[in-house]
Amino acid sequence: MRTEQARPIRLSDYRAPDWLVDTVHLDVALHPTRTRVKARLALRPNPQAAGPAPLVLDGDELTPLSVGVDGVALPESAYAATPDGLTIPQPPAGPFVLEVETEIDPSANTKLMGLYRSSGNYCTQCEAEGFRRITYFPDRPDVMAVYTTRIEADRDEAPVLLGNGNPVERGEVPGTNRHYAVWHDPFPKPCYLFALVGGRLAARRTGFTTMSGRAVELAVYVEPGKEDRAGYALEALERSMRWDEQAFGREYDLDVFNIVAVADFNMGAMENKGLNIFNDKYVLASPETATDADFAHIEAVIAHEYFHNWTGNRITCRDWFQLCLKEGLTVFRDQEFSSDMRSRPVKRIADVRVLRGHQFVEDAGPLAHPVRPETYREINNFYTATVYEKGAEVVRMLKTLLGPDRFRAGMDLYFARHDGRAATIEEFVACFAEAGGADLTQFMLWYAQAGTPELAVTRRYDAQAGTLSLDIAQVVPPTPGQPTKSPMVIPLVLGLVGPDGADVPPVLRGHGPVERGVLVLTRPAETFVLEGLPGRVVPSLNRGFSAPVKIKADLGSDDLRFLATHDSDPFNRWQAVQTLASEILIGNVAVIRAGGGVRHDGGLVHALAAVLADERLEPAFVAQVLSIPSEGDIARDIGRDVDPEAIWLARHALRRAIGNDLAPTLRVLYDRLRDDAPYSPDAASAGRRSLRNVCLDLLAAPGHPGAIGLAAAQYAEADNMTDRMAALGTLSLHDTAEREEALADFADRFREDPLVIDKWFALQAMIPDAGTLARVQRLTAHPAFSLGNPNRVRALLGSFAQANHTQFNRADGAGYDFVAEMVTTLDGRNPQVAARLMTAFRSWRALEPGRRDKARATLERVAARPSLSRDLADIVERSLG
Ligand code: ARG
Ligand code: ZN
Repeated sequence: MRTEQARPIRLSDYRAPDWLVDTVHLDVALHPTRTRVKARLALRPNPQAAGPAPLVLDGDELTPLSVGVDGVALPESAYAATPDGLTIPQPPAGPFVLEVETEIDPSANTKLMGLYRSSGNYCTQCEAEGFRRITYFPDRPDVMAVYTTRIEADRDEAPVLLGNGNPVERGEVPGTNRHYAVWHDPFPKPCYLFALVGGRLAARRTGFTTMSGRAVELAVYVEPGKEDRAGYALEALERSMRWDEQAFGREYDLDVFNIVAVADFNMGAMENKGLNIFNDKYVLASPETATDADFAHIEAVIAHEYFHNWTGNRITCRDWFQLCLKEGLTVFRDQEFSSDMRSRPVKRIADVRVLRGHQFVEDAGPLAHPVRPETYREINNFYTATVYEKGAEVVRMLKTLLGPDRFRAGMDLYFARHDGRAATIEEFVACFAEAGGADLTQFMLWYAQAGTPELAVTRRYDAQAGTLSLDIAQVVPPTPGQPTKSPMVIPLVLGLVGPDGADVPPVLRGHGPVERGVLVLTRPAETFVLEGLPGRVVPSLNRGFSAPVKIKADLGSDDLRFLATHDSDPFNRWQAVQTLASEILIGNVAVIRAGGGVRHDGGLVHALAAVLADERLEPAFVAQVLSIPSEGDIARDIGRDVDPEAIWLARHALRRAIGNDLAPTLRVLYDRLRDDAPYSPDAASAGRRSLRNVCLDLLAAPGHPGAIGLAAAQYAEADNMTDRMAALGTLSLHDTAEREEALADFADRFREDPLVIDKWFALQAMIPDAGTLARVQRLTAHPAFSLGNPNRVRALLGSFAQANHTQFNRADGAGYDFVAEMVTTLDGRNPQVAARLMTAFRSWRALEPGRRDKARATLERVAARPSLSRDLADIVERSLG
């Protein structure tokens, strides 16, 4: 009998597989409840393994029907087959062919892993460990095989049959109402990249010619009738394919590239070879149903999955500890793509907001883990902001350290050396060390040490000598399992802003000009002396957010206002305003908690007014500057003894003050930015809309009826979802009749459109009112809501738990209890989504004592329940640990 692998799994226990699989032939006969899977695996002993070994294959909820070896049925005494594994204790000594038939029930598959049904269509999700829910297999990414897949189905139920690779044959099954298609993928791949689709789907198509002249047919498959919403995704795919050729010299390698949108999907999308399967939220868009942000996300996710074809598929991961090898790198690539398609500074600001809002929070709590974890109990819980977003920052730092040319040389070497293989982080970094001639030994700590480094910077300016000394100390805080840390390599891009506002090139004493402005920190404390200064300069630290660190610098508010007006680095211009606002907000939170009245600061409003008056700035950037730190940002900066109610009050007061003080300017801008041209999702138009909508929101912040009326009018007159949704968002923050009217209208208008109703669920779940918990509870009974659909769950429950700081963290603990109740119900059906929702508790220790005790009690109650999934148990136990 095969026993359940003893978890936790450790990186240090990695062993090469005993058996390799050269080819896989699958024959899948689709049936709603009794799908038959015949698998023919050409196996051979791994020459690198220790010697003759039993064959142990993974399985998960499989019904075995028959097992054969080299064409002969195997007697039952010669193997053990259970739902979760197949073992042949004494397999043939040399290569052999294993034939196994299993039965699975796609309709009963509520975990949405393996083969399942979504809106009646068949689809698959195999990453990370879903292939074992289709057939017995060595389900690990270092086993790469060439797949041929025959898919058979009822002609009416599934007229469209798609697989990995290229289509090779299709036909009818004589004497039946069934047909089949055969697909062949010539590129060896790990089983997590396997996919098939069968269903009634309509396609939007186009052709693409690669840089070497290969003709590729592109198609985006959607629910029939929604083809008109697939056009933007298809265009984004073409742009992605062209960009990867130009930016990385990477070309597509099959005759077809298919994308399928499905309504029930655990994550965003999946990069299966030649057959990407997407959450329909990241495909479907029209001006009336999708916001500018939706269009941007679609472009980014389409690109991300496409880029995986080289970073993930052609070169995959040796084991799941190396997940950031493909994810961090591919996020970096999609960020660069979006930066090239849109505004680089605005994209950087948006990405850093996400990084701080998710990854820094994760890194500061009980779920903190290194970019490359060293142990896991459930790999699905490691598809995290740390692996993805911090993983991307680490790649970005490599580029910053090496410079663009040596970085590109490292990438080229990586592609050349590891194509067709399953690689490790060491092998990846070695390519940059070699091609870039750099010692990256200390740099590897970025993969191994969790926690966000904290820098303290103090200045000494010597007017006589014309020097500025920067004393920089770094500390990496302790994280679970890592009480002490070593200093990291930190590429800190430095600018010096002279008295006239122009940049002064930094020259380091004893070294000369600082190449590309990159100061490289390597020690716990060090001093950099910048010389040859024409006068007093203000340092602009970590330009472009060159390293994912927290910085405490001795810059006063005068310095920050100076940078806000003059810094040539747009990121730091934005950052200066954020820092100013953050200092005011944190001060006011303390005042509020002490029972005092909030302090009003004219300096910030001045800085904002200066930015608003600077006509050279792009609107999208100005919109970012006007968006003050979120409740989550403030909580994170405070770090301990957090009172979400006081944070909300302080933030609300500041928004009112800005709205009042800048009302005339905001109103003029609002009117001037009105766009009468037909909607277009391009970045420039989107930027103007974003600034206009930020103006509206700030104008309404003080709650004047005139501004509420303006929002209500915009809601009613909007000809696109961006403006309609923005107006509704503004209205949602004000307990008025207009709010309820608009919400009712929206529900009625978009009744037939689940993805749009998700926006309606999410918005209501985020209302910072005492009545919201009851509203969300009511909405769980709404006919459009379903615990079976991950998008609905994330929209309603995820928004409440992750984005409504005051109401999830109600002082009476009712928010915690409600979410825990929903999570435990969901756990029986979809553990992955349940576990993800539970991560909303990850900052519980940073709360003030009353809420902290309530959160702990809730976590302990969940932990004590019998039969939690491995996914949920892992999150709950680590959260309490
Ligand atoms: N590889 C996918 C991506 O593009 C994510 C799939 C994760 N799926 C899962 N069940 N953990 O990022
Ligand atoms: Zn990915």
